[in-house]
Amino acid sequence: MIIREMHEEDAVFVAELENSIFNMNTKADTLADECKRENSVYIVACEGDSIIGYCTIIASFETADLCNIAVKEDYRKQHIAEMIFEYAVKKCRAKSVERILLEVRESNTPAILFYDKIHFEKIGMRKNYYSNPSENALILQKSI
Ligand SMILES: CC(C)(COP(=O)(O)OP(=O)(O)OC[C@H]1O[C@@H](n2cnc3c(N)ncnc32)[C@H](O)[C@@H]1OP(=O)(O)O)[C@@H](O)C(=O)NCCC(=O)NCCS
Repeated sequence: MIIREMHEEDAVFVAELENSIFNMNTKADTLADECKRENSVYIVACEGDSIIGYCTIIASFETADLCNIAVKEDYRKQHIAEMIFEYAVKKCRAKSVERILLEVRESNTPAILFYDKIHFEKIGMRKNYYSNPSENALILQKSI
């Protein structure tokens, strides 16, 4: 398995993965544009020709927002997300990022346990932040 920065050519596969896991309609073109931006930390995990995991982070000065992190179902619980995140943290530090913030659905227990394992702390809650279905978001933060 290889972990590396996302390239424009990966966008179609990352969009497919994102839309299959989340209730989203992400366009490959959008991801292809975003991943080239200076403040994007877009990372993928590849097994052969397949993309099996990714994370998208937007680094704005000292604070970065983790937009999404996901691993294909068959590959979960093998520390792949942890490795993707570690790689992303190195890239964030190189951009002088000091902390990473994220929102997670209150009911997303696997993700919450994952963030707990990698030492994110709860700093707040946004009521009804999510739609389809409507749900509160926990706001988590980690200093890096
Ligand atoms: C959350 C997610 C990215 C974790 O990916 P993963 O590669 O399976 O996670 P890892 O194997 O790196 O897990 C690292 C640690 O996190 C915790 N963890 C991860 N998934 C867990 C689960 N389903 N149940 C309990 N603990 C879990 C464990 O402590 C694990 O370490 P351990 O296996 O030594 O106990 C994955 O479940 C996923 O893609 N979920 C759907 C997308 C999603 O909800 N993303 C978050 C959006 S906010």
